[in-house]
Amino acid sequence: MTVKSSQAPELGVCYYPEHWPEAQWANDARQMVQMGLSWVRIGEFAWSRMEAEPGKLTFDWLDRAIDTLAEAGLKIVMCTPTATPPRWMVDKYPQMLAWDAQGRPRGFGSRRHYDFSHMPYREECVRIARILGERYGEHPAIKAWQIDNEYGCHDTTLSYSPIARDAFRLWLAGKYGSIDLLNQRWGTVFWSMEYNHFDQIELPNLTVTEPHPAHVMDFRRFASDQVVAFNKAQADVLRDLTQADLLHNYMGRITDFDHYAVGEDLDIATWDSYPLGFLEDRSDRSADYRKAHARVGDADFQAFHHDLYRAVGKGRWWVMEQQPGPVNWAPHNPSPKPGQVRQWTFDAFDHGAEVVSYFRWRQLPFGQEQMHAGLLRPDGELSEDGKAVRAIASELETYSMPDEGPSEVAIVFDYASQWAWEVQPQDRNFDYFRLILDIYTGLRKKGYGRIDILPATTNDFGDRKAVFIPGLFGWTDDLRMAMDRFKGKVVMGPRTGSRTDDFHIPEGLPPGLGGIKVVAVDTLRKDSPLRLSKVGNIQIWREMLETDWLVAETTTQGDPVIITSGKKTYWAAWPDETALEGWLRGITQ
Ligand code: GAL
Repeated sequence: MTVKSSQAPELGVCYYPEHWPEAQWANDARQMVQMGLSWVRIGEFAWSRMEAEPGKLTFDWLDRAIDTLAEAGLKIVMCTPTATPPRWMVDKYPQMLAWDAQGRPRGFGSRRHYDFSHMPYREECVRIARILGERYGEHPAIKAWQIDNEYGCHDTTLSYSPIARDAFRLWLAGKYGSIDLLNQRWGTVFWSMEYNHFDQIELPNLTVTEPHPAHVMDFRRFASDQVVAFNKAQADVLRDLTQADLLHNYMGRITDFDHYAVGEDLDIATWDSYPLGFLEDRSDRSADYRKAHARVGDADFQAFHHDLYRAVGKGRWWVMEQQPGPVNWAPHNPSPKPGQVRQWTFDAFDHGAEVVSYFRWRQLPFGQEQMHAGLLRPDGELSEDGKAVRAIASELETYSMPDEGPSEVAIVFDYASQWAWEVQPQDRNFDYFRLILDIYTGLRKKGYGRIDILPATTNDFGDRKAVFIPGLFGWTDDLRMAMDRFKGKVVMGPRTGSRTDDFHIPEGLPPGLGGIKVVAVDTLRKDSPLRLSKVGNIQIWREMLETDWLVAETTTQGDPVIITSGKKTYWAAWPDETALEGWLRGITQ
């Protein structure tokens, strides 16, 4: 992975000209530049203004908005507006709505109300992307294009609609070719679930008890593929019409689709960084931690996403939306501590971000986000957050980005493993993302600043000191090759390599490495961790092993927990924070 660091980092802002009187635009643009902003993102929700009725296209306002921003000297990120299909679109295609797992269509009235599998809607998206690309693809001020907005946000990757079901059947027929092969590979003889033809296969919701894991796993892969294909359809159209970079703004802790696969079709990965919103809304931290960090957020969670999106962007990444003050959507919405927005901004640059862009320019007096802070107050005066950003911009003039190569330690993070262990957690507290974040956090405590995140398609670990592969659903040939070539240490487990692609226990038993067999699994209630012979406890998950590797740590009962063989280490349990500290010392020293 290359880290692009020669360029000075820049600031930007998200702007909605359609929300404000035209007479205000020139002044807004001037003020942005005066504040030290270089980039402005527009258009991602403006479809109803671009096309008020089917085929009635109105771009004169957008032409003028773009020209106004360009004349002020701003570089523009133009967006396709496909996250907000207008009302007429839903009237035209009532079946375009996604359905929730209870089998109910999700209604019009907010955003992201579309089913990734609905082909006529996908074609409408391609049509509007083409119209925009033809009109603005060569505009000299438009330097990047964002496709859609936050795939998967608001739980929108999985749809249980009849449209999704039909597309899933086709996907299965494409994958297996014959129903007999599907029956054999899934193992549908269990509970008499054998199928006679693909058209009998339903989506894996509304079953009496848990559906077949291989069925759900394929549904998750299918759903991810739909996002990739949806994005690619627009990317392909824009590629022919512009030289500018293509990007998407991903979200925090959204794992329902394979971001690396989406990233293959784009030039830059960007993500939307809402540290205080995330802490309240999607963190596993304790109540005490959340209370203590309510105004600063979780620096480890933030850093993990910076490193993850650097990987998704193949080295090139931005923060597209940085929280500048309170948001409106978390259970509690405090203001950041004074100086915190500066800290978040420089943290991103230290991780290699090319641009940090704030959401949003001016706080909007109407609509769902009227309580969301902006750089300007609703009355147009600079907010305290705006003042902070102005100061950051002047500080940036003398900032030089650290020029870093690959990190000394890296972690493999694999979306399919997240899906697999959601399908089959075995213990309600086993969460793959959390396992990864625990190890990531432990490594940060050891002083590692950037920690490269690697997809399971990596076939070369480079010259690193150590690579961690915890919780991996199944081995890929690439990863095995990377491990074989690698001179550093590889740490695996718990649960690594414990299923085949078809969601079976591998014949020779997990983890698929010579000299170890996981012969049983014992999950641990939150209130019943197990003591280790040296320091700390294991929690949530532990494995019973048959092994001829060296035993480096056991439970107080003498069961092996850490075993090693040459450069390979296997962790047969999930360590608590104290144990992890010691285990990592053993690897990184
Ligand atoms: C993001 C989204 C923005 C805005 C923002 C509010 O998730 O992309 O459009 O809604 O949240 O914090």
